[in-house]
Amino acid sequence: MENRVCVVNVTKEFDQKNILSHVSFEAKEGEIIGILGENGAGKTTFLKLLCGLLKPEEGEIVIFNQNPWIARDKVLKEMGILIDTPIFYEHLTGYENIQIHLSYMGIEKDINEVLKTVKLFGVEEKVVSKCSLGTKQKLAIARAISHNPKILILDEPINGLDPVAIQEMRTLFKTLKEQGITIILASHILNEVLETVDKIAILSKGKLHSLQNITQLKAKYGNQLESYLIQQMGGSKR
Ligand SMILES: Nc1ncnc2c1ncn2[C@@H]1O[C@H](COP(=O)(O)OP(=O)(O)O)[C@@H](O)[C@H]1O
Ligand SMILES: [Mg+2]
Repeated sequence: MENRVCVVNVTKEFDQKNILSHVSFEAKEGEIIGILGENGAGKTTFLKLLCGLLKPEEGEIVIFNQNPWIARDKVLKEMGILIDTPIFYEHLTGYENIQIHLSYMGIEKDINEVLKTVKLFGVEEKVVSKCSLGTKQKLAIARAISHNPKILILDEPINGLDPVAIQEMRTLFKTLKEQGITIILASHILNEVLETVDKIAILSKGKLHSLQNITQLKAKYGNQLESYLIQQMGGSKR
């Protein structure tokens, strides 16, 4: 199955208000794409559409040659997701939470190996309710990649992580990319996006501005890049 993500002319409304307006987007195998936008710009809404958790009013989304709204279960088997605040069985350990996820996905795997990929140690015995925000976030990323997805959808993935963990995550995302995994991540943190992704798309005023290659942007704007991007992001308040 081809892990290409294709969005054509998609419009999403909430309460008759256009949140996304005729948005088109494409991600190819092994690309890391950052969706950048102010709070409330519609990043989470966009990611939920990709996962089939929301239905667009107009337009078409094709992932693995499927419409994620119609073939959600099929699509979600091949997709790792971290959206909103991750939900866990709080009274169970991190280990057990991943165990449940893998059994739901029908996959057998060494869970300690999964925890090691995100450098998470000592959570085998600890119930999730007693874990720090950063640990929960790592656990959520571990769970999202545990069933060997071909596409990873990450909403504000560095939430709650300390600088060491942020560095570890960057390395992990690059390793996953080298394995051919497509990563689409949303963030309002400019630096994070600039350090991690190959391409960025800016969401502002309901429009998704076309994908731009980071290397080319850095070459073009140099140390003015941040202010250029902030200007591009601006004015998305409705
Ligand atoms: N389920 C919903 N019902 C109504 N409005 C919503 C819903 N989800 C999000 N919105 C609104 O859509 C806009 C975009 O939200 P969101 O996608 O969460 O933005 P971001 O992730 O960029 O901060 C916001 O104005 C938010 O209040
Ligand atoms: Mg959001």
